Amino acid sequence: MPEFTIQDFLKRKKESKKISMLTAYDFPFAHIADDAGIDVILVGDSLGMVVQGHDNTLPVTMDEMIYHSKMVRRAVKNAMVIGDMPFMSYQTGVYDAVHNAGRFLKEAGMTAVKMEGGAEVADHIRAMTRSDIPVMAHIGLTPQSIHRMGGYKVQGKTDESARKLLEEAHIVEEAGAFSVLLEAIPMNLAKKITEELSIPTIGIGAGPFCDGQVLVLHDVIGLFERFTPKFVKKYANLKDDALRAIKNYKEEIESGIFPSTEQSFK
Ligand code: KIV
Repeated sequence: MPEFTIQDFLKRKKESKKISMLTAYDFPFAHIADDAGIDVILVGDSLGMVVQGHDNTLPVTMDEMIYHSKMVRRAVKNAMVIGDMPFMSYQTGVYDAVHNAGRFLKEAGMTAVKMEGGAEVADHIRAMTRSDIPVMAHIGLTPQSIHRMGGYKVQGKTDESARKLLEEAHIVEEAGAFSVLLEAIPMNLAKKITEELSIPTIGIGAGPFCDGQVLVLHDVIGLFERFTPKFVKKYANLKDDALRAIKNYKEEIESGIFPSTEQSFK
């Protein structure tokens, strides 16, 4: 299978074929996601919560994102790999946005970057795109705005906020984004945005009408327990499997079953 490209993204929308996207943060899971045929792997700043154990994504640094992106890059052969711009890597200005996005492509071999925000980052998207850095925009619930939003809340529920989100979607498209991620918005608003834009929409908690879907890996495989948003579907429970295996290992050490002669040298 050849690598999934920006052109494939746009082709999928034209052909009404859904795009599958999943996060990954390290070599083994990126390898599994790629083997499973996922189209796009996002090294999301959600790693701050699901890998680093923080309460939100704000502490994640650019250097940490590069570190994880490099591991993912080494594992992936076919999927497109996208690096997520962490808090304060672009809010400080257009120069920082281009510089830090460039690091994802130059140092970690990412194909594109994702960045939260609408009208306020239109100039950033324009400058990044002009520098040949493909940008996926991210509107709706933007987790880096947790303090302004007062928590992780569904966005676009009132007529006024829905109108604003539709406008923001057009603004990021016009600024040059190749795709827009819609997080936690009503499904009919996501449908309208998807129908009006010519670039693909990727939904997370945005219903079934988007051009593609993304979820956080640790939610999908049952490795993140602190809270489960309504939009998550758990496809496995690896936490329970790991707990069982490790308990078993401990018991076998204590009872002398492990190691047996099979695991010993003569
Ligand atoms: O950081 C992340 O994982 C995200 C999600 C929307 C997938 O941005």
